[in-house]
Amino acid sequence: MWGGRFSLGPSEALDALNRSLPVDHRLWPQDVTASKAWVHALGRVGVLNPAEESQLLDGLDRVAERLADGAAVGAPDEDVHTLVERLLYDEVGAVAGKLHTGRSRNDQVATDLRLWTLGAIDQLDADLAALGRTLVGRAREGIDAILPGYTHGQRAQPVRWAYVLVAHAWPLVRDRQRLADARRRVAELPLGSGAIAGSGFVVDRVLLKEALGFRAVSANALDATGDRDFVAEVLFHIALVGTHLSRLSAELIQYASSEYGFVRLADDFSTGSSLMPQKRNPDVFELARAKSGRLLGDLVALLTTLKGIPAGYSKDLQEDKALLFDAFDTLAVVLPAVTGALASLGIDPERMRAALDASLRATDLADLLVEAGVPFRESHALVGKLVREAERAGVPLDRVPQVVAGGIHPALGAALAQLGTWEDSVEGRATPGGSSRKSVEDQLEELRKLFGAGAGT
Ligand code: ARG
Repeated sequence: MWGGRFSLGPSEALDALNRSLPVDHRLWPQDVTASKAWVHALGRVGVLNPAEESQLLDGLDRVAERLADGAAVGAPDEDVHTLVERLLYDEVGAVAGKLHTGRSRNDQVATDLRLWTLGAIDQLDADLAALGRTLVGRAREGIDAILPGYTHGQRAQPVRWAYVLVAHAWPLVRDRQRLADARRRVAELPLGSGAIAGSGFVVDRVLLKEALGFRAVSANALDATGDRDFVAEVLFHIALVGTHLSRLSAELIQYASSEYGFVRLADDFSTGSSLMPQKRNPDVFELARAKSGRLLGDLVALLTTLKGIPAGYSKDLQEDKALLFDAFDTLAVVLPAVTGALASLGIDPERMRAALDASLRATDLADLLVEAGVPFRESHALVGKLVREAERAGVPLDRVPQVVAGGIHPALGAALAQLGTWEDSVEGRATPGGSSRKSVEDQLEELRKLFGAGAGT
């Protein structure tokens, strides 16, 4: 496609490094779509007569059929663009040589990849929504189960299981908002930018934009052909999705251990050990946790690639696709597995309740003293003393003898008697966003709307 000025073809070693077809072959549907739009645009400015236009359009349809039948497999071409053009020559002969008028692979690949990314974002968004709906559905069932909430890995305050699950659902809401925002910038059309300086034929870029479903036309050809911010941005959003899945997974791995025993993976989402027959391993969550490292790597690799190159196209940019495809492909495998594991996850409310110990009421006691008129800093210190007494006597916090408690502060004995149930404790935190039933139900309703209708709601 570019050999005219050389007397020798590329060496095997160069070809092995330079060829991108093994990675970019999957852009063929986008390459055909964008080429058809380009044919229309060329027809409109008189570069193609109507007969040539329809010859090329029919030819491109036949090329698409051949590619759908696997024509890319084992093809010798340098990249998807040269592959499509060679097949078009096969189909229509010399008129195929008119397709590339006023176009460069630089604006072509940027257009193809943006088109592909738009579709991939929609798929990712659907997968995120499915996970969100599963979290919401499981949370609904878990509204009565109370377990210790942890900070620093230490038991802190009692919370509802539903509350824990919705805490992992909100990050997914933000992920989807970020993707929707990124989508607007992905949908800027580079086609018509030529190699660097604009097209030599004044094609109607607004019509091209509309034909291809883009939102806007890129503002500067030099920028548009070298811009991979959209890839970087999407890779960041993906890396953050991965981070969220990793944190959810890390928590569930812990809760699935024999020491906690709060949750149990279903048989079809558990893995066994080849040596230890008793094992029920949470590989699904461990792999989800591990894959987040790889997603972060994709982002860092792209930013590192971009930072050294000037405006416009450099071949460095060819590396973008392997990273972007890897990231999307990784999530396409991880998300359904995590969703399935969550949907079938068993919970053990007894084990959750058994992990609640009276020390988790320390904050409640301090609050009760505040209600009796003690300034909070003092009540904190007084309850601290009570905790120390309980530890010294080896009894739960609510079993410290009344006389000992009364000796620390006269109001403390009464406060101990007023503590009530775990449910009372959880209901005591009724601020919007808190762990009370009403707050959790409000959040579930909000999340249900955000994640849309579908299985699991
Ligand atoms: N395979 C190339 C890529 O993926 C297509 C663009 C090639 N442009 C060029 N000037 N050689 O980036």
